[in-house]
Amino acid sequence: MKTSDKLPEIIQGGMGVGVSDWRLAKAVSIQQQMGVVSGTAIDSVIARRLQLGDTDGSIRRALSDFPLPEMAQRVLDQYFIPGGKPPEKPFKLIPVHGLQMQGAGVELTIVSNFAEVFLAKEGHSGHVGINYLEKIQMPTLPSLFGAMLANVDFVLMGGGIPLAIPGILDGLSRWDTVELKLHVEDNSLHQNYSHHFDPKAFFPEELPKLNRPKFLAIVSSDIVAKNMIRRATGNVEGFVVENYTAGGHNAPPRRSDKSSLQYTEKDIPDIGKIRETGLPFWLAGGYASPKKLKEALDSGAKGIQVGTAFAYCRESALLPEIKQEVLGRCMNGNLNIITDFQASPTGYPFKVICLENSITNTDNYNKRKRCCDLGYLRHIYCKENSEIGYRCPGEPVQSYVKKGGPHDKTEGKQCLCNGLLATIGLAQVREHGLSELPIVTSGENFSFAAPMIERAGMNYSAKDVIDYIKSEL
Ligand SMILES: Cc1cc2nc3c(=O)[nH]c(=O)nc-3n(C[C@H](O)[C@H](O)[C@H](O)COP(=O)(O)O)c2cc1C
Repeated sequence: MKTSDKLPEIIQGGMGVGVSDWRLAKAVSIQQQMGVVSGTAIDSVIARRLQLGDTDGSIRRALSDFPLPEMAQRVLDQYFIPGGKPPEKPFKLIPVHGLQMQGAGVELTIVSNFAEVFLAKEGHSGHVGINYLEKIQMPTLPSLFGAMLANVDFVLMGGGIPLAIPGILDGLSRWDTVELKLHVEDNSLHQNYSHHFDPKAFFPEELPKLNRPKFLAIVSSDIVAKNMIRRATGNVEGFVVENYTAGGHNAPPRRSDKSSLQYTEKDIPDIGKIRETGLPFWLAGGYASPKKLKEALDSGAKGIQVGTAFAYCRESALLPEIKQEVLGRCMNGNLNIITDFQASPTGYPFKVICLENSITNTDNYNKRKRCCDLGYLRHIYCKENSEIGYRCPGEPVQSYVKKGGPHDKTEGKQCLCNGLLATIGLAQVREHGLSELPIVTSGENFSFAAPMIERAGMNYSAKDVIDYIKSEL
């Protein structure tokens, strides 16, 4: 039973990779707001935390509640290192997701999504959501299943138009086999490539009850919202309306002049038209203040979604030294946040903070030897002989071009997979003991920082953020 079925005013936005982990989401949910864990690359996060020795025992505790003990044990056998791996040794990699869903990779994905949601929900009855990106399709079906086994309350998805997901949630809740059509580049013959996932295959005997989580689509315009309502394969229970100042990936500018990479008033979502849909909605992108919450409520929104203010609170998984540096720079007035139109292999604009000791520093970027060993952002493409291949614009340029990828798409590309894992202390170790460097994403609006630090200091908590935002209600 929930303490309240009332929809929360504040959603703590899902922040990948692993920035909004179960600790942050739980701290928010306990305050009767919505905590959201990130499901993006969560299999790598869990596999690496296990290799660091699972120091507080949380993952093993979650796995002891997993309904298929043998599957949980196989994951532990593969990745858990008592006492942790030696710091100079690289992390063992997990299977890369592809068109064929591989046994061990699928199991790790199910178990990891389960564990993260289980821990976020443990010991209270508040709402917990999980966030995914539509563009990262290959782990999606086992991820949703794992999160549903832990009884996730909400699924939130953006970074594309997630038309297929509501119907998949319906299907999984009935234990049906579900299908996700995959985006394939250079598919001139328009062949159909899909993932099929049969949840019953894992449960030969009694099937536990699976609740259908509510689905919130993260959109940047009323056009996408209306499209979702008209064309989605099942019910959409609401929207997060995110503007272009938000952290993480942003929707590309809607521009008539293709050469100018700039947001204009055309990109500001029309809240009146979103309201016309009649569905609950939350506004995101620079809303972390009492005034902006009030403005959102007055416009008919249920509330707001906040990312950046939570990313720098003490429960988030960002490395403490990154939190200190960014908040310090913000207070000194020398924080440089840009919309990078090239960095992300997804092709979407991506907000980055320029920091000396990160991969956005030009020297560091030029020194890094490109490699693609995690592959979450690989695109599937059709070769001339109709076979399937995989390529990522962030991989070594030569190999990308050899696979038929256009050279210009590789320019300025970052390896977000390795960079984002480094920002939460899970950097891969490379040659000569050097580690991958972080890449830090944040929203443009840091106006929350001065009042937060004044109220609670640099080490402020998730509760401090909520108390501040709600202080004038
Ligand atoms: C560090 C960070 C990572 C983020 N990662 C994701 C993500 O993986 N998926 C997503 O839908 N949104 C992501 N976002 C966006 C947030 O969920 C949220 O909508 C946004 O930050 C709200 O704007 P604000 O940062 O101005 O509060 C991220 C934001 C930050 C700051």
